[in-house]
Amino acid sequence: MRYAAITGCGMAVPDRVLTNAELEKMVDTNDEWIVSRTGIRERRVAGPADSTTSLSVKAARAALAHAGLTPDDIQLIVVATCTPDQFIVSEACLVQAELGGSAAAFDVGAACSGFVYALTVGSMFVQQGLYDRVLVIGADTLTRFIDYTDRSTCILFGDGAGAMVIEASDQPRGLLSTVMGADGGGNKHLYAPGWGAIVPESAELFPEIRPYMQMNGQEVFRFAVRVMGDAAAEAVQKAGLSFDDIDMLIPHQANSRIIDAAARRLALPREKVLVNLDRYGNTSAASVPIALAEASGQGKLNEGDNLVLVAFGAGLAWAAGVVRWGVAGVPRPELAARRGAGVLAAISDGD
Ligand code: ACO
Repeated sequence: MRYAAITGCGMAVPDRVLTNAELEKMVDTNDEWIVSRTGIRERRVAGPADSTTSLSVKAARAALAHAGLTPDDIQLIVVATCTPDQFIVSEACLVQAELGGSAAAFDVGAACSGFVYALTVGSMFVQQGLYDRVLVIGADTLTRFIDYTDRSTCILFGDGAGAMVIEASDQPRGLLSTVMGADGGGNKHLYAPGWGAIVPESAELFPEIRPYMQMNGQEVFRFAVRVMGDAAAEAVQKAGLSFDDIDMLIPHQANSRIIDAAARRLALPREKVLVNLDRYGNTSAASVPIALAEASGQGKLNEGDNLVLVAFGAGLAWAAGVVRWGVAGVPRPELAARRGAGVLAAISDGD
């Protein structure tokens, strides 16, 4: 049996920090409201020199360094994003152009659930034996599509990228189970209009249309609380595990109240739940891989740990998976030997 172990991870965020105090000067909001309703204290916002590609490439280089590989070793690049730098070509091809190498490359679009979808796709290529080494990236620059006069959305989002290298293993490592779902009818609750091939009502309006994020927050909240818990629980069951076997929940970082509800559903104590949204806000497809990369860099993950990844977002879509952490069974003994040493430097690309 072939598995798809995660052998390297990396992350990148823009340097620019946008605090709640700064938002107080931009819209009618306050730090107390934002922290108590969302858990977010600050977020990173792309500057003029940042792009979905530049952040993806930084995260990918860090993940490759962590895995001890070069771009030439990678056979497939899958990028999950809803904010590619351009429509034609794919974000994955833009990343490959910067990284080098000749990997096949394509994008997966499932908004904030995108990384778990992409990890599922990339893992299947490895498990089926089509490829041995795949790079999976979750990256978004959603702040480019946020109306900074709309207090109901502008407080929530940040930018970033996270990347994972996955490699063939003969031991049960990597994605052990996955659950994906979508309710397309709910697309009206979370979307950015006017950014696509649809012809607008008035062609003259086209250049002025800004595709700002539109959101029915309460509807999305209710949906998220329901699917996060249910999908995570189903993924655990599909992996043949019980909640007691779970070492860490790594949820999409949208709102601490949604995360708390998912943790309660799995009966997990707070210390087993990874939360970093206070520093990054909701980074869409990047949030799960950034959290995973941080946890790895901080030495919180051990060989054989069972992790639950779970995400929800525009679509409305959701996805959850159980990942067994570690590199056992990957035919590169040097990997296991150097695991843990100098990892933080590799994953946190702050240049
Ligand atoms: N500051 C101060 N007050 C605010 C703010 C703000 N930033 N935003 C809204 N309010 C006000 C509202 O106007 C309302 O006032 P009113 O009672 O006088 O009418 C009051 O606060 C309560 O508003 P609610 O919308 O009921 O607040 P809620 O507790 O639902 O929190 C929130 C809003 C944080 C948006 C929440 O609904 C949420 O997190 N929803 C999920 C959103 C989400 O995760 N979206 C991303 C999905 S991922 C993707 O694919 C992009």
